[in-house]
Amino acid sequence: MSLQRLDKLVAASGKYTRSEATAMIRRGEVLVNGAAVRSGAEKFDADRDEILVRGEAIGWKPLRYFIMNKPDGVLSATEDRSETTVIDLLTPELRRLGLAPAGRLDKNSEGLLLLTNDGAFAHRVISPNKMVYKKYYVETEGVLTEEDCRAVEEGIALKDFTTLPGRLEILQLSGPGKAYIFIREGKFHQVRRMLGSRQKPVTYLKRLAIGGLKLDEALAPGQFRELTVEEAEAVFQPE
Ligand code: URA
Repeated sequence: MSLQRLDKLVAASGKYTRSEATAMIRRGEVLVNGAAVRSGAEKFDADRDEILVRGEAIGWKPLRYFIMNKPDGVLSATEDRSETTVIDLLTPELRRLGLAPAGRLDKNSEGLLLLTNDGAFAHRVISPNKMVYKKYYVETEGVLTEEDCRAVEEGIALKDFTTLPGRLEILQLSGPGKAYIFIREGKFHQVRRMLGSRQKPVTYLKRLAIGGLKLDEALAPGQFRELTVEEAEAVFQPE
């Protein structure tokens, strides 16, 4: 194990975000080999140095972030008795990392899927109040109109909740609908339900971006690769 910044090691426990780690380090709540270290930039070896956060050893595990081009027909789940999941598409070595989707896609949706074992990261991706917009390309039955755009912007009252304001950008003004839709929530079947409630049933749905991270079009459906640190951070930047 190599030397790594203390704030990164504490955040890598998966229990704290990077900013929480920084704050705890500053407050002297993180001990390394028995002494408080107040700079997150100091480097240690998690295999050799004893790191205690508020008296508890950090269960260190390497945090990993992957992008997949999810194919149609595969479940965004970690396991299933009868159906293929996105985890089944990984190599046996990667399957042992405890990766899970950060924001699911329906079985018959395609496109950008993030897989990580960083629970705090996944929470930030999913949480609507973190303002991470997800961009989808959508095709519908029926013509999409300005009224549909207004409805998406205002929020659509579904049976169990009203959607937060989103954006619909129509790409084709006649014939079956083709559009980009941007939303920051990810409730079950949300885009399908939003447009279905406008009598524009979705016939095709593909996620193109999460925040500032775009789908890597070089990835064929079912392919994946590890993200760089910059790419993982781009998720929390605007498109
Ligand atoms: N909205 C949906 O309806 N389905 C998805 O897979 C993603 C967003």
